[in-house]
Parts: sequence; C-alpha cells; structure tokens
Amino acid sequence: MQPTDLSSLSSDRWLNKSVIDIEHRYRLLIEAVHDYAIFMLDASGCVQTWNPGAERIKGYAPAEVIGRHFSLFYTDEDIAHRKPEQLLSTARSRGQVEDEGWRLRKDGSRFWANVIITAIIGSDGALKGFAKVTRDMTERRRLEELERLQLRSALIQHAREAEQKRIARELHDDLGQRLSALKMALSADQAKLAGQGKEITAQIDAMADSLRRIAADLRPPGLDDLGLEAALEWLTESFARRYGIEVRLAVDGDIERFSELATISLYRVVQEALTNVARHANAKTVSVGLSTTDSFCRLSIADDGDGLPAIATPRVDAFGLIGMHERAMQIGGELVIESQQGEGVTLTLLTPLARIRTE
Ligand SMILES: Nc1ncnc2c1ncn2[C@@H]1O[C@H](COP(=O)(O)OP(=O)(O)O)[C@@H](O)[C@H]1O
Ligand SMILES: [Mg+2]
Repeated sequence: MQPTDLSSLSSDRWLNKSVIDIEHRYRLLIEAVHDYAIFMLDASGCVQTWNPGAERIKGYAPAEVIGRHFSLFYTDEDIAHRKPEQLLSTARSRGQVEDEGWRLRKDGSRFWANVIITAIIGSDGALKGFAKVTRDMTERRRLEELERLQLRSALIQHAREAEQKRIARELHDDLGQRLSALKMALSADQAKLAGQGKEITAQIDAMADSLRRIAADLRPPGLDDLGLEAALEWLTESFARRYGIEVRLAVDGDIERFSELATISLYRVVQEALTNVARHANAKTVSVGLSTTDSFCRLSIADDGDGLPAIATPRVDAFGLIGMHERAMQIGGELVIESQQGEGVTLTLLTPLARIRTE
C-alpha cells in the first residue's frame, strides 16, 4: 500500500470541483460518522482534527485533545514498549499500519480498539501527517470471548458425558453379564449347585477384578497415598501387560510437591496418551518421561508407531487430544504434538514449576 497522495484530491481528473468544495464535503462526511473515531495527526503525532465518533469512543471533547500527542490513548505498558512511535514509523515506511489492542478512554477505562493509521504524503513527497481511524471492538471481543468459553464448556461437558457413558457401559457389559451368569448358576437346584462351587468362585473372582479395574480407572490407585511416580509405575506396568507394548518410564527430578490438580492432570495425560498408543499407533515401544529443571516440569510420551494420519478427518467425538490440551492449559502449561509418518508420535507437556508446586 502506497502512502496516500493528497495532490490527487485536487486533481481535476478526480472530481471537477474546487479543493475547498471537496474539503467541505469530506468534513461533512467525517462529521456524520459516529461509529468510528476519524482524526488527523501531524507528522509528530499530535492530534489535529477530531470527529464526533472520536469524541463518543474516547470521551474527549475537541478542545481537550487537539494539540496533544496521541500516545495519550495508549496504556502505560504500550508506552513503555514505544508502541505509538513504532506504529507511526511503520505507517511512514509502509504507507499504512493496522493494529488491535487495548486503548484508554478519557475516564481511564479501557476499550479494545481496531486502529488503522495511514501516512499522508504531500505533493512534494514530504510527510504531512497521519489519518487515523479507530473502531471500538470491545463488544465484539467480549462476544467472541463468550463464544470461546461456551464452546469450551460444551466440550468439557461432552467429554464428561462420554466418560460417564463409557463407565456405565463397562459396568453394564462386564459386571452386569457376570452377575447374570452368577444368578443363573445360583438358581439351579441345590444338588447341581454343589458341583458348581469352583465355577461360582471363579465368576466372583473375575467380577472382583473388573470392579478393581473400573474403580482404578475412575480414581487411579496409589495417586493419593503413594504419589505420582508410584501411580505412573502401576499405570505403565498394567498397560504393558494388557497390550503387550513395552513401556519405558523415566522419572527424574523432584516431583514430590506437585499440587493435587497437577498430579491428576499429568497422570490423566499419560493415561489418555497411552490409550491412544494402544488404539491407533501400532507401536512396539512407548517411552514416558517426567522430569523437572529449575523452573519447568516436562512430561513426554513418545511412541514408535505409525504417526498421526497424514489427513486427519475431524471428528466431533475425538476428545483425547483436546482433553490433553485442556489439562495442560489448566496447569499453566502447553502441549506440543510432534509426528512423523511412520516414526510415531511424541507428546510434550511443558509447564512452569511455579504453577504446579505447593510449598
Ligand atoms: N499415538 C498415536 N499414533 C497414531 N495416531 C494417533 C495417536 N494419537 C492420536 N492419534 C490420531 O489422532 C486422532 C485423535 O485422537 P483423540 O483425540 O485421542 O481421539 P480418539 O482416540 O477418540 O480417536 C485419533 O483418531 C488417531 O487417528
Ligand atoms: Mg483418544
């Protein structure tokens, strides 16, 4: 985008009217605009003109603001980062600059602004000043934020429902069936029953196993009393046994003083990642690493399977990866997914220790 050339306004080709007339028409137009702040700055950034939209959005009457430097609309933080100067210098070099951010009203309140600054170059090529158009986007931003939150809570709700459905199904299919079998065995006549003692005992043992497994899924054993490392050992060992996939677990550093939320979150990320390895990866080995440095905690789960599919078909009911991102976010961390076709998937969760330590 080239800087606007004021001389084109006075060209006869442009409009067959005198400059005064055009300026008058423009002024009327700008005066009529109430939804946008439209004003001019001189080359040093001082306010030269002020329309009713600017007064409405920013709260200053023309006399209060004309002649003052436009950095008055910026937050202390932006001023410390020299943002006003940087925007003007970008507008000067590129012709125009657009920015979104918090700006201040006269009463000190903030509003979310979309700002476009255009450099005005005179016919002699010298910088005459800047035209600035500002729009108050606070309401739109608030709505977007609300939409994001609503979507997020809907996702969480959906994940919770899916989890409850899964548990209900396991209870019904697994325990329910075993109970029916047991009931049938018991309702046979007593004479026959005597010979079935062994079978009934076996059924009861199997039910106890199922019960333990389902309960363990709901609340990981050992997490409360033995801690995260022991719980991860139990999880990885039972995973290896159940799926015949080798698991290497390496815990390194001080993971003792993690908050309850951090402990359960890290555990659930490993659990969900391992579930994905079992379901999707075709892996032989998976490495789980949990370590701390001075200021960070790092969790990684790396498998040597097929990697993520090249073309991911979005599914509304796939909550594993989304859930892991959510859990990472909840403890102030970030989850990064890396994948190479044929070389497996690596999940890395990095979170500041300051967020997850209890003193
Ligand atoms: N370790 C992995 N190896 C290969 N593909 C994976 C792995 N983890 C996840 N995926 C792929 O990512 C998709 C989304 O995973 P996820 O969000 O957990 O949903 P779901 O497990 O219910 O399919 C999976 O369907 C699968 O295609
Ligand atoms: Mg999954």
